[in-house]
Amino acid sequence: MRPLIVKLGGSVITDKRRRFAVKRAVLKRLARELAAAEQPLVVVHGGGSFGHPLASEYGIAEGYRNERQLMGFSLTHRAMEELNAHVIKALQKVGMSAIAIQPSACAMIDDGRIKSMELEPVRKLLELGLVPVLYGDAVADRSKGMGILSGDQLVAYLARELGASRVILGVDVDGVYVTGSKGDTRAKLVRKITPSDWAKLETSFGAPKGKDVTGGMANKVREMLALAERGVEVEVVNAAKPGILKRAILGERGLGTRILAR
Ligand code: IPE
Repeated sequence: MRPLIVKLGGSVITDKRRRFAVKRAVLKRLARELAAAEQPLVVVHGGGSFGHPLASEYGIAEGYRNERQLMGFSLTHRAMEELNAHVIKALQKVGMSAIAIQPSACAMIDDGRIKSMELEPVRKLLELGLVPVLYGDAVADRSKGMGILSGDQLVAYLARELGASRVILGVDVDGVYVTGSKGDTRAKLVRKITPSDWAKLETSFGAPKGKDVTGGMANKVREMLALAERGVEVEVVNAAKPGILKRAILGERGLGTRILAR
């Protein structure tokens, strides 16, 4: 059976204003919602206040330039491992056999893009009925030495390689918002995005907020459009609102922003 891939955005499960702050109650609720899945499931989570501040402080996404970054790389990965341990524990508590997969140990990027990833263990564990849990991570980069692999890029790659049936991205807003044309700064929720819409929508995105080192919402949409073009259905939903993620997992469509081939 084709797996479902769900991403928990860093801003949903962590408090972005405070370093290393997990939103425990939210994570507990989301674990219950994820447990509703009736098909093989792969979970990916973002970095939030665990990954982004450190990655930004040490310039990890810009590649290797000085020795100080080695400690930054080590600290960023460690912070992500800590957040991952919280996610794994929350999933185990609701009876899910979650297993952490460390991206920095099995993925190789080149200029920020995944070039190879050892997925045989993930495939086998999924087949057995385990729930692999991956995350955005500090990883080795062939040409730049080091870099940050975003959870979004990881989701797109896994969806392709594992032949996912569907991708659900849980974020802390109702979907993808764009600002109106010429001077109209009001943000408007877009219900559906296709590759042909994107050319005009892309200009309506501002720079990512705060310490986001992986490009924010515009980058998320770009990753997902490439996936949609390969026939995988994607939806961005508000996982901060109780029950929405569960409904999406159980098959409801149109709860947020759908990203589709047409
Ligand atoms: C970022 O992953 C990981 C690190 C900064 C180490 P994401 O880009 O997927 O994280 P969120 O969801 O935006 O927090």
